[in-house]
Amino acid sequence: MKISNVEVKDLVNTYGSPLYVYNQRMIEDKLNAFKNCLKSSEFECDVIYASKAFNCKAMIQLVSKMDCSLDAVSGGELYTAYAAGFDMARVYFHGNNKSMDELKMALKYKVGTIIVDNLMEAQLLSELAKNIDYTVSILLRVNPGIEAHTHEYIVTANIDSKFGISIEKKSGILELIQIINACPNLSFDGFHAHIGSQIFDKEAFVQEVNKVCEFVSNLGVDVSTLNFGGGFGAVYTDEDTPIPVDIVCDTLIEAVKCNIEKYALNINKICIEPGRSIVAEAGSTVYTVGFMKETPHKNYIFVDGGMSDNIRPALYQAKYSCVIDGKENEMASKHYKVAGKCCESGDVIIEDAYLPEAKPNDLLVVKTTGAYGYSMASHYNKACGLPVIFCKDGNSQCVIRGENYEDLIRLENDLCA
Ligand code: LLP
Repeated sequence: MKISNVEVKDLVNTYGSPLYVYNQRMIEDKLNAFKNCLKSSEFECDVIYASKAFNCKAMIQLVSKMDCSLDAVSGGELYTAYAAGFDMARVYFHGNNKSMDELKMALKYKVGTIIVDNLMEAQLLSELAKNIDYTVSILLRVNPGIEAHTHEYIVTANIDSKFGISIEKKSGILELIQIINACPNLSFDGFHAHIGSQIFDKEAFVQEVNKVCEFVSNLGVDVSTLNFGGGFGAVYTDEDTPIPVDIVCDTLIEAVKCNIEKYALNINKICIEPGRSIVAEAGSTVYTVGFMKETPHKNYIFVDGGMSDNIRPALYQAKYSCVIDGKENEMASKHYKVAGKCCESGDVIIEDAYLPEAKPNDLLVVKTTGAYGYSMASHYNKACGLPVIFCKDGNSQCVIRGENYEDLIRLENDLCA
């Protein structure tokens, strides 16, 4: 099996097992697809990669190369962007509880846009921004009361979300905008909303646009920019049917246009923040099959990783599909439960993988692990972090070295008393 024309077994020979492998070409194509689909609209558009999905210097440099912007949500993500040489004016800084240090850091780096999440943040930021020598664009995160979940969306009052200010709280929002506008170095430009992740129903996005625009029309404040967040889906198994990129973009643009006409709004800039849809399908995890065993109801395959490199099945009952390298075209004949090596019964990668006969030392390639895999990995059981390899057109490059045992204890001190 090849990934961007590189043999998986050659990758394992070179870099070891297990591994995260990305098809760089697929990431580039996805970023381009979003950019090109939005470009054809009459709005100024910004595709902002949500770096929480997969964040490292090389990925950020790829975002820069593709002329996209970056969503960062912590000091660590800001620092990585800065270290990667990213144009900080193109960073959108998010978070419901940004610390004073993180806000200071954002201003020091001259981050272009800060998405303010609540009143206390607006107050602190307007103090901190008094003496800076540039203007920060401010978007306010609002909570439109639409909460979208995998496979379905539900409209709820959602008043208790930790993110943003409810659009029901008009006076609170006006007060916040006043605080922002009172600071000469902050420019209130518009609103941000994000309704969930792995959303397959385009109606959820239409509802989001409608709700936000209706709210803007009642506010009596000039708004130029709307950011509708991310949440566009990826294919993990053949049950998943994400909305194609061009339809996502057309749906958003059309919905905004309808609302502009309906309410005579002055919106001229539209942003989206895709994370998963950019990197999920481009990434795979390559494991080596170790021991196997049969129980009364299960055939187990044990792999040399597990919940420490992919927490999503344990955390969200997320489903994945896999193939055995070299047996992609063989008939499936056996149901396997693919489990990792962590000390926990819930350490399962795939509950029911229907595969050709497997044997120890086979390479098992789990697909669509490119989003929220590496970025949510842990050191549980003192597992070493996996290397990350980018492949493109027959070449491979290690963008994150795998950890060794020394790395695991490098921050530790011996007991002194
Ligand atoms: N913008 C904001 C403000 C967000 O909170 C998120 C994701 C995104 C953009 C990107 O959403 P995406 O396009 O990736 O769906 N750990 C979970 C996903 C959490 C998403 C959190 N916010 C998972 O593994 O499924």
